[in-house]
Amino acid sequence: MRTQVAIIGAGPAGLLLSQLLHVAGVSCVLLEQRDRAYVEARIRAGVLEAGTVDLLTRAGVDERLRREGLVHDGFKLGLDGETFSIDIKALTGGSQVVVYGQTEVTKDLILACVARQTPLIFEALDVALHDVDSDAPYVSFTQDGEARRLGCDFIAGCDGFHGVSRAAIPEALRETYERVYPFGWLGILADVPPCDDELIYSNHARGFALASMRSHTRSRYYIQCGMGERLEDWPDTRLWDELALRLGPEAAAGMTTGPAIEKSIAPLRSFVSEPLRHGRLFLAGDSAHIVPPTGAKGLNLAAADIRVLADAMIGFYEKGDTEGLDGYSAKALARVWKASRFSWWFTSLTHRFPDMDPLARKMQLAELDYIRGSRAAQTTMAENYVGLPFG
Ligand code: APR
Ligand code: PHB
Repeated sequence: MRTQVAIIGAGPAGLLLSQLLHVAGVSCVLLEQRDRAYVEARIRAGVLEAGTVDLLTRAGVDERLRREGLVHDGFKLGLDGETFSIDIKALTGGSQVVVYGQTEVTKDLILACVARQTPLIFEALDVALHDVDSDAPYVSFTQDGEARRLGCDFIAGCDGFHGVSRAAIPEALRETYERVYPFGWLGILADVPPCDDELIYSNHARGFALASMRSHTRSRYYIQCGMGERLEDWPDTRLWDELALRLGPEAAAGMTTGPAIEKSIAPLRSFVSEPLRHGRLFLAGDSAHIVPPTGAKGLNLAAADIRVLADAMIGFYEKGDTEGLDGYSAKALARVWKASRFSWWFTSLTHRFPDMDPLARKMQLAELDYIRGSRAAQTTMAENYVGLPFG
């Protein structure tokens, strides 16, 4: 087998790259270790920056998103049960975000792959990268028990944090930065109407809570939980009660409870691996960086990487231009670090840290109170939340 771009991983990054390349007439093959049902069942975040919507439109997969996505002009911050709004549209001169589950983005992209006959190989096992620093790289893998080899010009490592691509860059050439947060997020998905029209990010003495949604009839909530907590410690009733406490009386009054259709605990970390390129290998998305979900940047950062990488690869094939490829890592990392900083800051502002002394708590509350009263502070928050302009 041979293609122009071998893409490892059929998550949002790999799928989006495959469709942007398809639209530009560049051939690719996607290698995904899981089956389609597993990939499409993954529950992830649900806030799209306008830049991400633009990319999905360029890829020709925006029809359902525009029909079903919820356009939001702002979000709410909670401070010990009281909430105030951040009017992102007014503060950023018109920018909005679209609430649309990553699960749905993934399904739309897979449907496009099938409709366009993009070679998408599910259950591709034992994927290994070879000769990435040569001009003839290739990928080996096992399909239906058969050893296969995929020759290519470039490899896009879109295989997430636990993938194999990052390790194909020699450790001596890699610099990694990591912070593991001393808590996790317990999330619940339920077919109940949201408690508010907007998302609510709440800092409460008992811990952080987030009220989000997938539609007008499906809600997504999270609470901060301890590192060692287990799902069996959190029956639905206990979780609904805790959410009502942490989100405050106004949100609780609007809350409809119901059985969880999904419930899970996820760790929080900040992680960046530099550089994003080694020879003919380019990393994009979670294979290179992880942000705490507080700022809803994970999917949007993956899309931002792909925007730069797709343009670079298309420029190479259309004009023989290598400038985009040579500049990819630095350009993508510039945005990654700014989004990582915002995600770390927003997490530090809203979560209760186990080692937090009374002074640190007072500083948190003072910063939230300052944001409540400052247009300048709210503008800073809003422009990061909607996504910084592309340089
Ligand atoms: N071989 C083939 N595929 C692999 C391998 C491997 N060795 N390892 C992982 N994969 C696949 C995973 O099964 C997954 O489908 O790569 C894909 C990576 O997808 P994501 O982890 O979703 O990463 P990315 O596409 O960068 O999207 C980032 O997804 O997880 C969320 O919070 C994250 O919102 C962010 C977004
Ligand atoms: C979600 O709806 O899953 C979600 C929304 C906003 C976030 C994180 C997760 O910041």
